[in-house]
Amino acid sequence: MAAFVPDSDSEDELPPGWEERATSDGSVYYVNHNTKGTQWTHPRTGKKKKVTGELPYGWEKITEDNGRIVFIDHLNRTTTYTDPRLAFATEEKDFPTDFRQKYDASSTALQVLHGRELNGKTAIVTGGNSGIGFETARSLALHGCKVIIACRSLEAAHIAIRKVREKNPNADMEAMFISLEKLSTVKLFAKRFIQRFGKLDILILNAGVFALPYTKTVDGYETTFQVNYLSQVYLTLLLEDPLTRASPSRVVFVSSESHRMNNITPEKLNIDHVSPPASQYWSMMAYNNSKLLQVVFARKLAEKWAQKAICVFSLHPGNMVTTGIARHWWPYKVLFAIVRPFTKSLQQASSTTVYCATAPELENVSGIYFNNCCRCDPAKSGKNRVTGEKLWHLTGELLRKANCQIEM
Ligand SMILES: NC(=O)c1ccc[n+]([C@@H]2O[C@H](COP(=O)([O-])OP(=O)(O)OC[C@H]3O[C@@H](n4cnc5c(N)ncnc54)[C@H](OP(=O)(O)O)[C@@H]3O)[C@@H](O)[C@H]2O)c1
Repeated sequence: MAAFVPDSDSEDELPPGWEERATSDGSVYYVNHNTKGTQWTHPRTGKKKKVTGELPYGWEKITEDNGRIVFIDHLNRTTTYTDPRLAFATEEKDFPTDFRQKYDASSTALQVLHGRELNGKTAIVTGGNSGIGFETARSLALHGCKVIIACRSLEAAHIAIRKVREKNPNADMEAMFISLEKLSTVKLFAKRFIQRFGKLDILILNAGVFALPYTKTVDGYETTFQVNYLSQVYLTLLLEDPLTRASPSRVVFVSSESHRMNNITPEKLNIDHVSPPASQYWSMMAYNNSKLLQVVFARKLAEKWAQKAICVFSLHPGNMVTTGIARHWWPYKVLFAIVRPFTKSLQQASSTTVYCATAPELENVSGIYFNNCCRCDPAKSGKNRVTGEKLWHLTGELLRKANCQIEM
């Protein structure tokens, strides 16, 4: 199936003699110049639309003395009465979660961002120095977003930033140190970020490890569990204040479809199960469980922060995408190399993350799981309310046990 590109939607084309306009509060209406009538619904599709989000870069909206609204394009020195955001107006729905699928598995992050200006927004991408995280960070930066690459190798991050700037010297990117195997560095990262930036529009929890041999972190937890889940949840909680200041803001957990192959039940949700001793460790199950915990926590956090205008999503980026993720066990490396011609490119694998982080139609929804830029049902265990409640308390307990002062 071909990817949907926003500006070629012929279904939305108006019949001759009609014009699309927007009111000052963003409601779209339709003018019929033949009959001199107006209506709220599209004359062909019968749908209602709304203009949302920021004006494109360089545009300004002013109100004339007679009350009429004018849009000034300072870059091209032109003036118009037509709201430039009309080209990207979104459908108004009776239910906020009832949105039309615009993209699919072949869509790229840059297609999702087509026509978007993210100037003035700040994003953090954990593990943004390589793989899917790098492509996510690059795509956001190419559309004007300030991107902080949060990673454990500043050298790798600077190489990544240089790569982006080779094509776009103005890309606004920075590297900041975080090691997800050490909770104290997570705290320090959050402190430095808050001191320097104050507000955060987009938090992308992308960093992850897979198929690790058994190790424990300095905080005493199994490494896959801490890197994929505990440290990134801690980071999210520490950044509540800057996320609230930017609201509406978004938190995006890069999970995986592997979350479906977990062995977590509400009864088994305890420290020995999520962070097992070496004798009970199986790297594949540790990964699957950590990805399930991300889905469960995202839903719970969406509920907890519902009044804060912070939307929380989780997602699957793609199957066996060629990145550094398989590096810890050579058979996986070989497998990933064999299937490479049939899997998503990095641009395609970062599209769902970018969609969750920026799509205007997701402004009033939260707690949803996505795959291929499309809402989808997570595993039953991912929606279990008892698991969600228990996980919330267990997370607080494990963080406090590691000397992290956090209120949960
Ligand atoms: N590739 C796939 O097929 C696939 C499928 C489903 C889900 N995912 C998910 O997609 C996300 C991105 O993975 P990827 O495929 O792009 O793999 P990747 O290239 O290996 O990227 C993982 C990133 O996480 C960082 N990271 C790992 N441990 C860290 C630590 N202790 N502290 C700080 N950063 C750490 C890595 O940093 P270093 O470069 O320093 O190691 C790297 O930047 C992961 O969450 C993964 O689970 C991937």
